Amino acid sequence: MRIAICPGSFDPVTMGHMDIIARASGLFDKVIVAVLCNKEKNPCFTVEERMELLRQATAEYDNVEIDSFQGLLVDYAREKGAVAVVKGLRAVSDFEYEFQMSMINKKLYPELETVYLNTSQEYMYLSSSVIKQISSFGGDISLFVPACVHDKIVDRLTNM
Ligand code: PNS
Repeated sequence: MRIAICPGSFDPVTMGHMDIIARASGLFDKVIVAVLCNKEKNPCFTVEERMELLRQATAEYDNVEIDSFQGLLVDYAREKGAVAVVKGLRAVSDFEYEFQMSMINKKLYPELETVYLNTSQEYMYLSSSVIKQISSFGGDISLFVPACVHDKIVDRLTNM
């Protein structure tokens, strides 16, 4: 069983995340979408809310599981027996940070591979931050988030 982890903040899930999760689900036997419990950031959605949005958005993928983690990604990956971490790369600007992370993770846990998937063209410009900004000013985010969780996301972002 080849297990991959898609880690992230997912605050909230975007169509860009969905693109990567769906493609990872076709490449690995099991994909664990792992929401980081990050106390430093000031999230719009609690970890439980983010996990619930992800659960609904990924319901059609039988081999995708939603979980959360704290601490180092490599420790979590080891505990889960994962062979890879899957990350989406949107642009060259993502690369420097992602490259540093993958090098550190490789030192800490050499058996774990980092697999980069180029984000599909239509989602290259997307991020959770951009979605939060558009929605907070009453803009339409229906093209940017999964349809099944659109209303929940809008509800929260416009009532903050
Ligand atoms: O969606 P994000 O916020 O870009 O996701 C970043 C994430 C969760 C992948 C990254 O912050 C992470 O792996 N955090 C766990 C801590 C860790 O292992 N850091 C690497 C060594 S410093």
